[in-house]
Amino acid sequence: MSKATYNAEIAAKRWHAGNIYEIIIECEQLAHDCRPGQFLQVDCGDGTFLRRPISIYNVDGARVSMIFEVRGRGTRYLSQLKAGEYLNVLGPLGNGFDTDIDGDILVIGGGLGVFPLYMVAKSKGKSCDAVLGYKTERVLVSHDRFADVCREVVITTDDGSYGVQGTAVAAAHSLVVNHHYKAIFACGPLPMLKAVHALACKYNIPAWVSLEERMACGFGVCLACAVKSRENEEEYLHVCKHGPVFNSKEVML
Ligand SMILES: Cc1cc2nc3c(=O)[nH]c(=O)nc-3n(C[C@H](O)[C@H](O)[C@H](O)COP(=O)(O)OP(=O)(O)OC[C@H]3O[C@@H](n4cnc5c(N)ncnc54)[C@H](O)[C@@H]3O)c2cc1C
Ligand code: FES
Repeated sequence: MSKATYNAEIAAKRWHAGNIYEIIIECEQLAHDCRPGQFLQVDCGDGTFLRRPISIYNVDGARVSMIFEVRGRGTRYLSQLKAGEYLNVLGPLGNGFDTDIDGDILVIGGGLGVFPLYMVAKSKGKSCDAVLGYKTERVLVSHDRFADVCREVVITTDDGSYGVQGTAVAAAHSLVVNHHYKAIFACGPLPMLKAVHALACKYNIPAWVSLEERMACGFGVCLACAVKSRENEEEYLHVCKHGPVFNSKEVML
């Protein structure tokens, strides 16, 4: 089934670290339809007019989970919800990552961009290596779950409080030169995605990057989430509809 609106019961809400929470909803049809890298437009209560886009973190049976950081009014509302309450979501939205690739892949996540990659890692298992970059040890979330499914996981922190000090892309460089990856999948801040694109071009590996833009409708109607095409500078693509996952050669990063 394509996208739909669901009023789903919250099965659990967890605090992970700092301002980072996970919400798990029970919704069989949605769980069935979700692909790695897709997102939901989440109703954040009467105080916020627009829904907020949050990536799908995991699907487990009939349960769908999202991990988010409290940024403003909408995500604060989400962080205050409790198990047993209901959450209205629209989705699944966007194209997601095409994981149908023969051979090893590398996922590179930075900050909140780690979360949309977990389903990719889970689906590829031991043919997936991961480099996960965090600011500091205090906000390490989900790295242990990647370690459960991936072949190799490298953790980086900006301040060196855990794992390798430095950026995720710098650490990814040494993995890339020692393996024959068929693809790189990445999600994180724009400077990180630019560095992923440069790395992928240097070693001639196809790279797919998941972009974030402020959104309104979430399905291609309002044109709020435009990004410039790399092939044709006059052309705009929409993150919600054509993405959020793009080949890194397709868009201006
Ligand atoms: C496709 C997609 C997937 C996303 N997945 C996740 C996820 O899995 N986990 C998660 O924590 N967040 C995710 N986000 C970001 C999330 O949507 C925003 O943090 C949220 O909308 C903020 O809403 P708010 O009402 O709490 O804050 P607001 O009051 O709306 O904004 C608070 C601050 O955050 C900034 N901001 C808001 N939205 C965005 C955005 N899209 N990009 C950059 N800055 C923004 C605002 O400029 C402002 O400074 C995703 C965004 C997109 C587009
Ligand atoms: S958010 Fe409306 S077109 Fe993308």
